[in-house]
Amino acid sequence: MSNYCADHIASLVQPDRVHRDVYEDPKLFNLEMDRIFGRSWVYVGHASQVPNPGDFFATRIGLQPVVMTRHSDGEIYVVYNRCAHRGVKVVNEECGNAGRFMCMYHGWTYDTNGDLDFVTQEEGYPNHKFEKARDGMGRVAQWGAHNGFVFANLSSSGPSLQDWLGENSGFLDDVAISAPDGRVEVSGGVHRYLFHGNWKMQVENLIDMYHPAYSHESSSAKSGQQFSRREGDKGGIQFFEKRGKVRSMDGLGTHALPHGHTWQGGLPPLENTSESHREYVALLEKKHGPDRTREILTKKRHNVIFYPNMAMQELNPHIRVIRPVAVNRTEIFIYPVKLCGAPDTMFRDQLVNLNRTHSPTSLVQTDDVEAFARAQEGMLASGNKWILLARDGPKETLPSGRIKTTGTSEEGMRNHYRAWLNYMCSGSPT
Ligand SMILES: [Fe+2]
Repeated sequence: MSNYCADHIASLVQPDRVHRDVYEDPKLFNLEMDRIFGRSWVYVGHASQVPNPGDFFATRIGLQPVVMTRHSDGEIYVVYNRCAHRGVKVVNEECGNAGRFMCMYHGWTYDTNGDLDFVTQEEGYPNHKFEKARDGMGRVAQWGAHNGFVFANLSSSGPSLQDWLGENSGFLDDVAISAPDGRVEVSGGVHRYLFHGNWKMQVENLIDMYHPAYSHESSSAKSGQQFSRREGDKGGIQFFEKRGKVRSMDGLGTHALPHGHTWQGGLPPLENTSESHREYVALLEKKHGPDRTREILTKKRHNVIFYPNMAMQELNPHIRVIRPVAVNRTEIFIYPVKLCGAPDTMFRDQLVNLNRTHSPTSLVQTDDVEAFARAQEGMLASGNKWILLARDGPKETLPSGRIKTTGTSEEGMRNHYRAWLNYMCSGSPT
């Protein structure tokens, strides 16, 4: 573990810039795993990924392997993926169903709530009295769910899940209510890829509305409009007002919340004439009436970041999980979110659009990971050791503490670093 003092860490983040070490220094990366991923609430998965007793979903919190399970008591547990005997990772598959978990090394087995179930040749331990919990895989300190979205915390201190979610919980509610059945499901598979850059680059990119016209120019038409990303959208996203003049994304707005959470305002509503959309709207209207339905369909937010490891988008609804691997390696997981009760054809179109924009070989996404890899390399040049995050605009602070400013402001990134400093210097969440 690094012996960096708080003063040194604080010197790396200035009001309008950060030192390159925050992206390049392996010691700082290890500290982040301990002080951010080890002390914040972190998104684990969705309850619909483990609907039945014995279902499991293996992932990591920071670098630590964990398993989200549905136990025979019907409850969800989040347990460390570690055998109490020699520390071997017990669950090797990413997901599945099991009566119990068995370690491949010496055959110890565990219940799906992590408790020790059986020790092979137990007579060989005359001086050790086994206890189910103490000699189990071990449960993480805290976990909880909001509308099925499961978050866990390796630390028992800090804010409650609801306090930590803050206004972001309203977004999870909005997503659920946009489904005719009032709930969502993560059941559409996953796009997974690794990029050669620091995890924070992806977090920052999600609140960066300055880059699309430039990074994603190759996916825009000669007329300056990008292909349609939304079902029923004939015009695509307009990057240019006229040849050479970029359309500003400032109007969307950037919103910076406590704990590093950030979001952008929603894209303008669409005139969607597709049959599946009409059917979807009719289902919502039957349940909520036309006025409330119009409200539901007017999206207030675009990318919503649950700092540090998850983001969600209502445009082709999907979850993005950011999993750090090393200081210069990051894995990304894209999970489509199914609006339960909506027409199947709508979900199919959603998957087709996500294939186009979020698969490892898609348009758009490949541009971003190219930028991340080039940044990771470019920052090694010592002429300038600082990364500028000074872009700004008029801003106001709302009574909730949320800061609202322009869409291309770098306030969202500065907000990430305010949370980063709090975690890294004090270890206690903001
Ligand atoms: Fe991008």
